Amino acid sequence: MAGMKPRVFSAMQPTSDSLQLGNYLGALVEWVKLQDTHDAIYGVVDLHALTVSPKPEVLRERTRRTAAQFLAAGVDPSRSAVFVQSHVHEHAELAWLLSTFTGFGEAARMTQFKDKSGALGESGTNVGLFTYPVLMAADILLYDTNVVPVGEDQRQHLELSRDLAERLNTRLGEGAVVVPEPHIVKETAKIYDLQEPDKKMSKSFSSPKGLIEILDDPKKVAKNIKSAATDSDTVIAFDRENKAGISNLLTIYSALTGRAVEDIVAEYEGKMYGHLKVDLADVVVEYLTPVHDRAMDWIESPDALDEVLADGAAKVQSIARETLARLYDRVGLVAPRPRS
Ligand code: TRP
Repeated sequence: MAGMKPRVFSAMQPTSDSLQLGNYLGALVEWVKLQDTHDAIYGVVDLHALTVSPKPEVLRERTRRTAAQFLAAGVDPSRSAVFVQSHVHEHAELAWLLSTFTGFGEAARMTQFKDKSGALGESGTNVGLFTYPVLMAADILLYDTNVVPVGEDQRQHLELSRDLAERLNTRLGEGAVVVPEPHIVKETAKIYDLQEPDKKMSKSFSSPKGLIEILDDPKKVAKNIKSAATDSDTVIAFDRENKAGISNLLTIYSALTGRAVEDIVAEYEGKMYGHLKVDLADVVVEYLTPVHDRAMDWIESPDALDEVLADGAAKVQSIARETLARLYDRVGLVAPRPRS
């Protein structure tokens, strides 16, 4: 890996069969761009996904599908590392070390933990959910990461990573770890459910007809666009309050073509909703088909995919090993003596 470029690290949990268009545009498109200017490491964080107790076969399948979508989006394994978190055991080890630097109250203040444990109740909440942000900090600090692109929902977790990094540098001496900077990816396009356009598009809350999924058959995606809910008015205009359905379609149109919403509105002046839907369905199919096909190719060649992931793990593990050895030394663990 190039030594001079700043390092970027980001990751996704393998918790769905397919990414939504929103995650794709908000995260992966940004990751792909960052590879031009950064030394990039992108992980499928399967250990994090264990906190929601997935079925073993489902987790295995989703881990590969998630990696396949990184590659299909244009993450280039000859320039960037793509790897699976559990292949690099240093993540779990650093998480343990960091947990001894994390206050109980500090972890208990994480709003995502409070929300999730509140919903699950005490008996349904495992300790892994509580220490989840510590494992995330380990992911980041293992690689001397400079920049972490994440969505707004991860801001507090990233603040914890920074606090831990600063604490390590204070207690263990400067240069223990690099303090990472957040790069909060603005939702260029906030995409809503096609059927209920006042709710965010999300696999947990939407019906299949409300979604645009990268790994769906593009024909089905086209159908979903054509049957999107719209108001009973006939004017094509951007108005989130009163015309949520049409506004959502305009947002998607704009995001995928790079054209300004006003421009699209002007083009459709006097036309009917049906025209816009038919054209947008074509735009979406044209945009998604190559991504979909590339992802399916990887999914259908698990050996080739596993090889990319093995290369990625080997590349990053040499960095992880050094960081962990440095920190083990600074906290006072006796280094194992190499046996002759
Ligand atoms: N918690 C992140 C999410 O759910 C995923 C994640 C785990 C992550 N480790 C990370 C993101 C390290 C950035 C850096 O979106």
